[in-house]
Amino acid sequence: MRTVLFVDDEQSIRNSIERMYLERDDVRCLFAASGQEGLDILQREEVWVVVSDYLMPGMRGIEFLAKAKAARPETVRIMMTAYADITVAIDAINKSEAYRFVTKPWNNKELMATVDEALMRYQLIQSLGAEDETIYLSMAQNVELKDHYTKGHCNRVAGYSVALAQAVGLDDQYINDIKHGSWLHDCGNISVPEELLNSPGNLSNDELETVQQHPLWGSEVARQARMPDTVINIILYHHERFDGKGYPSGLAGESIPIEARIVAIADVFDALYSDRPYRKAYDYNRSIEIMHEMTETHFDQKLIELFLPIAEKMRSDG
Ligand SMILES: [Fe+2]
Ligand SMILES: [Fe+2]
Repeated sequence: MRTVLFVDDEQSIRNSIERMYLERDDVRCLFAASGQEGLDILQREEVWVVVSDYLMPGMRGIEFLAKAKAARPETVRIMMTAYADITVAIDAINKSEAYRFVTKPWNNKELMATVDEALMRYQLIQSLGAEDETIYLSMAQNVELKDHYTKGHCNRVAGYSVALAQAVGLDDQYINDIKHGSWLHDCGNISVPEELLNSPGNLSNDELETVQQHPLWGSEVARQARMPDTVINIILYHHERFDGKGYPSGLAGESIPIEARIVAIADVFDALYSDRPYRKAYDYNRSIEIMHEMTETHFDQKLIELFLPIAEKMRSDG
């Protein structure tokens, strides 16, 4: 059961959070009035997400979160703080004591969205740790639901990537990891607000920066779930460009792992060749033309040459 533990010394705050979650029968809420009480609950319950107040008598929020981390490293930790304490909250995030923070007084919708995201993160890490590929695919599809225009995207990307990896001559284990990485390449989108994923217009610089965090966020989750390096590389580097102008690391040429160079091609091609929130799909010929135009800057020329016949074949196979 999706369980959230709220730790706050003020009764009135615990009450209003409880009221706020009344209509949510998909979430079980637990409450603690102190850090110590919170730790006791963590001992005996499987808590997915813990939300802790910062300023409490006795054990402070930071100390509590650090102890919660030691006791249950998999539980996702959120810090609640008054606006004045924001530097403390950021510090807690940097020390990885907390995953996010919510400011007080909070906005109900925002708090719930942050908690939902944390629940999904917990579920994602648990599922990826399960080493079961049917679970990987269903998790990837779950993430896709946030962005309804990309339905089927991760599975199509996997189809193109696997075919390309076969053409390169990689071994079966490698290709299997590439399939999983393709499914999960955008799993970091669980941390991108839905409005940004589905935005039909131009994003501001700040918004763009948020969207561009998804490779980092996703790779962190995959790392925590101890996925193979090939999978992590795909999630982390699928937006790198051959000329070094991609993100998040600005790697260039063959210093980008080949699995990420493969998925980058499959990802862009599928994005062109299917409908997006901001435009309709291009037809096949125009999609290929754009891939050619992008080759020098974005892609590995050798891989593109192997990819073109694959795209052609998949198109005629329907
Ligand atoms: Fe992406
Ligand atoms: Fe993608």
